[in-house]
Amino acid sequence: MAVIEATPDEGAVDFGVPHVAIIMDGNGRWAKNRGWPRLVGHRRGAERVKQIVRACPDLGVRWLTVYAFSTENWKRSTEEVLGLMGIFARYIQKEADALSAEGVRMRFIGGRERLEPKLQALMAGIEARTSANTRLNLTVAINYGGRDELTRASACLARDLAAGLICEADLTQGALEARLDTAGIPDPDLVIRTSGETRTSNFLPWQAAYAEYEFTETLWPDFSAEALAEVLARFGQRDRRFGGAKA
Ligand code: IPE
Ligand code: IPE
Ligand code: MG
Repeated sequence: MAVIEATPDEGAVDFGVPHVAIIMDGNGRWAKNRGWPRLVGHRRGAERVKQIVRACPDLGVRWLTVYAFSTENWKRSTEEVLGLMGIFARYIQKEADALSAEGVRMRFIGGRERLEPKLQALMAGIEARTSANTRLNLTVAINYGGRDELTRASACLARDLAAGLICEADLTQGALEARLDTAGIPDPDLVIRTSGETRTSNFLPWQAAYAEYEFTETLWPDFSAEALAEVLARFGQRDRRFGGAKA
């Protein structure tokens, strides 16, 4: 399999923000505003993901993590939940060739056991197929919740401790991080939430502890590559101190 190297793209703008995470919110309102069913909004949202994925390398973004379905989203109607699961499956099937050809490595975070076996198989398949790609790292959060992830990682630590694989002195931040779904993925630099809500809704609470946040009124199906470039340019103006003092 051809490995596409992570050399900066020719003409790529460098905003110094390699990892962008997006809470893609507002699909339902986008559809409602037009008198259409919520699922139409979700389909438009999936189209938007394709465009943003394509725009990332030229904007200097090497890592993109998107929140597609939370552990709390099971509260929605069966029709909406099943519709969303169908959209995820179709996205993987239809985009597999393009993602592979474009050097995108696709990964998923979130608990998988509650998902349909067919969807789980599609997810594992595309992860394996794109595992050597490095141009853009696309991570999709499905049935993801930060509290659930931390609970599973803690249970894993407890099991390893009980089995004698690790000792108490090994209970470090690094040991916990290694058991998170995001092991091997750098922390996000910037978290964007669309649709005007200013909450994080259980998205990457550990990993985004030092991320910058941007909230935009734009509904996700309307969030263009130009809008992303504007947000990235603003991010470039920020002073990230990570607890240090300004020189
Ligand atoms: C985000 O859009 C997609 C998911 C949460 C699955 P919403 O469906 O939450 O859209 P609004 O917030 O109702 O407008
Ligand atoms: C967050 O959006 C989850 C996703 C974007 C997948 P929600 O629409 O579910 O969040 P709340 O309910 O407004 O907090
Ligand atoms: Mg919402």
